[in-house]
Amino acid sequence: MNHKGTQVNNIILIGFMGCGKSTIGRELKRMLGFHWIDTDTAIETRAHCRITEIFAHEGEEGFRDRETAELRELLDKNIQSTIVSTGGGAVLREENRTILRQLGYVVWLRANADTIFHRTRKNRDRPILQTENPRAVIEGLLQQREPIYRECAHLIIDVAGLNRTEISAGIVESARYFFAQHE
Ligand code: S3P
Repeated sequence: MNHKGTQVNNIILIGFMGCGKSTIGRELKRMLGFHWIDTDTAIETRAHCRITEIFAHEGEEGFRDRETAELRELLDKNIQSTIVSTGGGAVLREENRTILRQLGYVVWLRANADTIFHRTRKNRDRPILQTENPRAVIEGLLQQREPIYRECAHLIIDVAGLNRTEISAGIVESARYFFAQHE
């Protein structure tokens, strides 16, 4: 049930940068025929600029305000049959965590520091990792954030050793079970 008392069937993907939220979001869209929303893309579209520019002009807090506004809007719109891929820091605000759980079934795609480092090291689109030692930043943030992802998630999937089809099939099965129990 969401805050308006309606049954929802959305699947919400959370997890650190590079854990596969967009890849799995797209795969779930394909498997289920659902809509797919990526909150980072939605923020960029609304702002008419890239996330790096938002961080540069408004700071991280400005970006976080935009992220919260985007999530609030999804809740207000009462979205259904939708996969939502979130940014890695979307869970940081308590308000956001509450919204995410009201939006649907929250799945944490858990990846380790090695995997994250290898998947993100060539990408320049993530302001938080544009530092001298991204590996140390990843390890530090992972330590801070893992308990928060855990608190927010209905389901945790360790992505190590699984391909996108296996991960997505696992999510679909578990989500069906969850929604059947919560009708
Ligand atoms: C962030 C993750 C990014 C994006 C922003 C901040 C974070 O999203 O929202 O750069 O704080 O972890 P991805 O997880 O999709 O890279």
